[in-house]
Order: sequence, then C-alpha cells, then structure tokens
Amino acid sequence: MIVIYPGSFDPVTYGHIDIIDRCSKKFSKVVVSVLNNRSKKNMFSIDERVKLLKEVLKEYDNVEIDTFSGLLVDYAKEKKCNKVIRGLRAVSDFEYEMQMALVNKKLDDEFETFFMVARGRYAYLSSSIVKEIATFGGNISCFVPKVVENAINEKIGGGY
Ligand code: PNS
Repeated sequence: MIVIYPGSFDPVTYGHIDIIDRCSKKFSKVVVSVLNNRSKKNMFSIDERVKLLKEVLKEYDNVEIDTFSGLLVDYAKEKKCNKVIRGLRAVSDFEYEMQMALVNKKLDDEFETFFMVARGRYAYLSSSIVKEIATFGGNISCFVPKVVENAINEKIGGGY
C-alpha cells in the first residue's frame, strides 16, 4: 500500500522523520508531499524544503519526495493514491486534523485519512516551535538533524 504524507515541512523535524520512518516500515511506499503555497510565510522556499527532506531521508529506498499545490484531494487523484497519513501529537491537533479529514472526505469519498500517533518524546515538537527557539538563540540540536539546524541558523544569521 502506498501512502501520501503531506505537509509544509518548514523545515522537517525529528517528529516528521519519526512518522516517515514508521510509515516506511508499514507501507510499501511513502510519498512525502510538500505543499507549495505561495501565500504562506515560510522560512524555507519549496526547493530548500525539498532539498532538506531529500538529504535527511536519503537512506530510505521506499520514500519519495514530491511537491503539490492546490487541493490535496486533487493531488491525491493525480498521484492515483487516495490514502494520506497525518501525525497526531496532542488533543490540540485533533480538531484541525478532524476538520481537514472530514472536508477531504466530503470532497472525495474515496479519500482516506489515517492518523499515526506521534511518539511521546516528539509530542510537543513542531517546525514553528523549533524556528522560534532558534530565533531567540536556543539550542535546537535535539529537535532537528544537523543539516536542518545549520540551514535554520543560516537563515537567522542572514536576517530572515
Ligand atoms: O504541515 P501542515 O502545515 O500541517 O500541513 C497541512 C496540509 C499541507 C496537509 C494542508 O494544509 C493541505 O492539505 N493543504 C492543501 C489545500 C487543501 O487541500 N485544503 C483543503 C483541506 S483543509
């Protein structure tokens, strides 16, 4: 079974990597799909986010990195894969995730959302939190791989 793991990945964290690692063992292929949304203020461009994902996931033979824009259901149809994985960290994620899953189901009845519960040690982790900690000079080495840490610090040093 092939699954899509969609997200902003701005940038990828150990929380995302853990979900991808676990999915890669349960599904034949995982398509990590990065939303290319111009209206959203991201720290990293779409190319930079893809590059970081490719770097940190290079060991995985059954993980593909792709991009999409527009509706997730349309992209899923185009990919001929109507199964999507979303990570669930805390109850606070649930409302938004449930809404998204229900909207997607309404848009396409064949579309299925599967939730994978985050490991406890990553339950607090998000790309936004990591960027905020880094902006104020905090140590982010336990939240993201070295290559991502360097990329964030370069952005901050460059006056992002
Ligand atoms: O990592 P994120 O930001 O939580 O990922 C959210 C994402 C990209 C999965 C979601 O915003 C999305 O699917 N956007 C595409 C537009 C869409 O299909 N919207 C309708 C469903 S709410």
